[in-house]
Amino acid sequence: MKPRAYITRRLPQAAIDIVSAACETTLWDDEANPVPRETLLRAVADVDGILTLLTDRVDTELLAAAPRLKVVANMAVGYDNVDLPALTARGVLLTNTPDVLTETTADLVWALILAASRRVVEGHRLIAAGGWTTWSPMFMVGQDVHGATLGIVGAGRIGSAVARRAVGFGMPILYHNRRPSPSLEAQIGAIPGAVIRYAPTLDDLLSTADVVVVLVPLTPETRGMFGAREFALMKPTSVFVNASRGPVVCEAELIEALKRGRPWAAGLDVFEHEPIGADHPLLALPNVVLTPHIGSATVATRTRMAVVAATNLVAALTGQPVPNPVNRVEVKGEGRDGGT
Ligand code: GLV
Repeated sequence: MKPRAYITRRLPQAAIDIVSAACETTLWDDEANPVPRETLLRAVADVDGILTLLTDRVDTELLAAAPRLKVVANMAVGYDNVDLPALTARGVLLTNTPDVLTETTADLVWALILAASRRVVEGHRLIAAGGWTTWSPMFMVGQDVHGATLGIVGAGRIGSAVARRAVGFGMPILYHNRRPSPSLEAQIGAIPGAVIRYAPTLDDLLSTADVVVVLVPLTPETRGMFGAREFALMKPTSVFVNASRGPVVCEAELIEALKRGRPWAAGLDVFEHEPIGADHPLLALPNVVLTPHIGSATVATRTRMAVVAATNLVAALTGQPVPNPVNRVEVKGEGRDGGT
């Protein structure tokens, strides 16, 4: 008998086809809206695997509602929506979708760096409001991106793709991870003209960088990592970009810091509580550029992510090597009857 799978959103057909070919599949057939919690809890009662999105909370309540569950395939590189220790304790495998979104997300980081530094959205709004009356020497002046020092906090795959692009802008690169990364330094250092240095402390990076990009995963250690103290260390001309997870930043303190002009501007793709509405206080500030958590949102990349998640799910449920495991558990059995 085929294993049973539940997919929590309408995905690109290629991904649904992969799951349906190997599993008895049920789908929450809505692209725009998450499956209601009660529906999800009922739907997982007899499934072996779930393909989830970052809008689905996978916690002990869900695990309790899914006694047969063997694998959760999350369609994201981040998995802070999942209680990983609880999954591991239950012997449930978690998979994610790294690599396929690296370059696309790095592109979006650059869109935010450039838009915030050069007041692109503010300028658009000004024109739309009829506020462009003449050219004047200091009209809409921003901060130079080329030649500025780029500080990357959390330089993993996406950070290194951001750094590679920075070499083209003639930007010296500083990065802060828990430990220095010789492979990152070798990779970037091999690009002609590249300058890269490890910042042993976050404070060192914040006080030196002109552009600060945050790409750390959300963990108990990184929650609230950026607050009033950190913003006060930044240069008054600095640009702050967050494309990781909103709760890494204390948003109320960022808003106060932006009002005081340090950082000088911010580009944000992620927020403490998503989605945010039109009345969000960040939108009242002229020096911010906001995007609605779209780091990986291109047609090609979202399709690839869905296919990777589907492939992970099916591999785990059919006893094949799993491409992107997050935790180490033995997936027992093949199929809904435990494969005995
Ligand atoms: C998106 O934010 C992801 O983690 O893939």
